[in-house]
Amino acid sequence: MSKIFQIVVFASGNGSNFKKIHQEILASNINGNIGILISNNKQCGAVDYATEHGIKCVILDKKNEISENTFMQILEGYLPDLIILAGYLKLIPASVIRKYKHKIINIHPALLPSFGGKGMYGSNVHKAVLASKQITSGATVHFVDEKYDHGQIIDQQEVQVFPDDTAELLARRVLEVEHLLYPRVVKACCEDRIIWEGDAPRIIPSK
Ligand code: GRF
Repeated sequence: MSKIFQIVVFASGNGSNFKKIHQEILASNINGNIGILISNNKQCGAVDYATEHGIKCVILDKKNEISENTFMQILEGYLPDLIILAGYLKLIPASVIRKYKHKIINIHPALLPSFGGKGMYGSNVHKAVLASKQITSGATVHFVDEKYDHGQIIDQQEVQVFPDDTAELLARRVLEVEHLLYPRVVKACCEDRIIWEGDAPRIIPSK
């Protein structure tokens, strides 16, 4: 059996992607271990789930501001092979992004490079997709770099946009594919199945 990937998760909201990934780990479908959940919101679904499942949490809220150094030390304590952002609403310090280059991934609820960047989160994304009369939307998993929603795209999954869609309906449909896409990409990362073709990452099939 190959080595177990040590994973750190960052989440601020419901944590449904975090839960899906954790459930795939519990089912032995992903060769990983979530050592810690880092959140800026002590009252959220992600923290509740972590607490119920014995996953250690660190809360970085306003009362608990920490320096970039301390942030780095917390991460280093877990020797992460992979850092997963799953609805984390704060910026990751640039020094952390540099140190863990190509080890930090994020999921975005649209087909990047469209509908990403500052302000493009939550229902804003789906409203923008509907306003520009797209016929498809979807979800994207990408590496994290210093700009919002900008790093190299690892994989995407599309959904159809219907003429009578609302932002809520579209969000729900996109979230359903996120729950398939994100565990699939995390699994590939934990099996070293991301290869590089120049500057473009690609998932190769399992043997
Ligand atoms: C997802 O839509 C994800 O694309 C975005 O934040 C949301 C998190 O949802 N980055 P959840 O907390 O995992 O349910």
